[in-house]
Amino acid sequence: MSNAGPTTPNEAEAELARLAALIADYDRAYHEQDAPLVSDAEYDALIRRNRAIEAAFPDLIRADSPSRRVGAAPSSGFAKIRHAVPMLSLDNAFGPEDFSGFVERAQRFLGVTHEFAFVGEPKIDGLSISLTYINGDLAFAATRGDGSEGEDVTANIRVIASIPGKLHGPAPARIEIRGEVFMAKADFLALNAAQEAAGAKIFANPRNAAAGSLRQLDSTITASRPLRMFAYAMGESSEAVATTHFGYLERLRDWGFEVNDLSTTLATTADAIAFQDRVGAARAGLAYDIDGVVYKIDALDLQTRLGFVGRAPRWAIAWKFPAERATTKLEKIDIQVGRTGALTPVARLTPVGVGGVLVSNATLHNEDEIARLDVREGDVVELQRAGDVIPQIVARIGDHAQGSTAFVPPETCPACGSPAHRPAGEVVRRCTGGLICPAQAEEHLIHFASRGAFDIEGLGEKTVREFFADKLIATPADIFRLRAEQIIGREGWGELSARNLIQAINQRRTIALDRFIYALGIRRIGEANAKLLARHYGSVENWRAQMELAVQIGSEAREALGNILRIGPAIATELADFFAVGRNRERVDELLAIPLTVLPAEPEAISDSPLAGKTIVFTGGLATLARPEAKALAERLGAKVTDSVSKKTDLVVLGTDAGSKAKKATDLGIQTVDEAGFRVLAGLESI
Ligand code: IVH
Repeated sequence: MSNAGPTTPNEAEAELARLAALIADYDRAYHEQDAPLVSDAEYDALIRRNRAIEAAFPDLIRADSPSRRVGAAPSSGFAKIRHAVPMLSLDNAFGPEDFSGFVERAQRFLGVTHEFAFVGEPKIDGLSISLTYINGDLAFAATRGDGSEGEDVTANIRVIASIPGKLHGPAPARIEIRGEVFMAKADFLALNAAQEAAGAKIFANPRNAAAGSLRQLDSTITASRPLRMFAYAMGESSEAVATTHFGYLERLRDWGFEVNDLSTTLATTADAIAFQDRVGAARAGLAYDIDGVVYKIDALDLQTRLGFVGRAPRWAIAWKFPAERATTKLEKIDIQVGRTGALTPVARLTPVGVGGVLVSNATLHNEDEIARLDVREGDVVELQRAGDVIPQIVARIGDHAQGSTAFVPPETCPACGSPAHRPAGEVVRRCTGGLICPAQAEEHLIHFASRGAFDIEGLGEKTVREFFADKLIATPADIFRLRAEQIIGREGWGELSARNLIQAINQRRTIALDRFIYALGIRRIGEANAKLLARHYGSVENWRAQMELAVQIGSEAREALGNILRIGPAIATELADFFAVGRNRERVDELLAIPLTVLPAEPEAISDSPLAGKTIVFTGGLATLARPEAKALAERLGAKVTDSVSKKTDLVVLGTDAGSKAKKATDLGIQTVDEAGFRVLAGLESI
């Protein structure tokens, strides 16, 4: 969350330095680890903020400014390429009647009654790509994009071994070849295992892994991923290369492409229908995912005459397979604790093969999903694997198991025993254990040492994970108990680096109160709210004592507390929940007893927000903020929030379906803004 723009050169300089470091971190995570730390939207907002400050203070633009780095923005990282011939999609068929309908339409269009010869090809579940060769050399490559315009991924395509950089043998002066980039199932599983070991992003299925690997701004990452391509279609060509599609596939093979070896000619509709069954039976055993068979009329002159209707050719159809399904017993419902404390029910199943993958677990997402499916331990269930490796439970088969009981959501976290809460209006139940929950401990340690928190130089994510795995640190206080001798001699650590780390840790034994609060990793207490709490309570002693009291108050008082603190009731509740857990209190006290010197906070500054001193009315529904949070935010920035519009009102924030208050504001000539405008005024977003 960003605040209002800096007003003095000193502030601007500090903010530009902060943004440069933050964006560099995000870039590294995105490009090198393929594990984005923030959404594209958040990233873009930081880039915009950086640009806006640079525009106001051009003398302060840094040499390492994100605006000077090339390829910094992931969302606009690729140049666009317009396809010479649009990349269209295919009509679908789901059964023999649909297929016969396709044949009859083609016959009618051509005014013929004879059978067609087809080529049948597995429909590869990957992403389509267009390759343009000029004088035999790969000139450029583009993704499908919206069909008219794709992304220029030439550099990444060049590193895929099964795509020739130069066509073998004679070829037209200019030819565009299309095909599907994919990742084999075994390669996908190995990649995910390696990603997991490195703490990097896990892909949901081979198609996502292929797409993520191809859309890399750094082609050395693409090169390290086992991508392949099957060639299967033609775009533009400066001369004819074949008279049949099958003849074209043979040329593709000669030029050095991989062509799927199940692709075959089929003399009649009956042959095509039989081929569908054959490929369906082979599907599970194939090395790659397919989701159907594509049938193309073999004669290229017929293809030309048939042409296109809408966005699909009249000469081809994709006959899809049904999603792969299987039936098995739901043995048990376990609760998994995620790294953020989310409790997810997981179905343990009697192992069963679905589409060539042996499945013994399925996610149940959340307790609402269990209620919707109405499944219990012991029931027989139907599973579906639709491209994704993680299957879903689709339905219960038959009655509930005898003597079974309905699922009861856990009241405590299975990893640490702390209370588990499901806030009103949310689907996810969460562990309140925070610091003490082993399932969350590692992520908490990473957060604790990170830049906005204790900012311990040399104790980045990778090091924390290594130290945690080797049990050198289990709790934040352990960091301050580390000794150089424990570190010297570890892989990558020498005497000097170990002593430097210990020195960096020692330097952080004195810490500002807001950083201390933020470092605890309490849900929803980000840097801004931590600052607010620090200013409100002043000293760590006062804060600690007040938190002891906060635990004992009921929900109404929490609401009042939220208003007093101007953080809103939801955040006040998170705070109280955290301190309600005895072991969280112990961890905080353990840290203070190290001892740490926690510097008192500066008293609250007079707000320089454009909202300061204004009387504001909110009306209508807000999409990005809850009303109490919006009110708390405005008050925090020095505004007075009232319920009705009067002559004293300075500003009316119009949500959706704003009614009579909007009209009254117009009648009285009072300034109005929409939600987006309010976010800008409140400093949540820069323009
Ligand atoms: S031919 C104008 N052949 O399926 C027709 N497409 O649903 C061009 N696909 O966008 C496509 N395997 O990404 C064709 N053997 C195959 C295919 C195939 C997979 C994909 C392709 C296309 C999508 C259409």
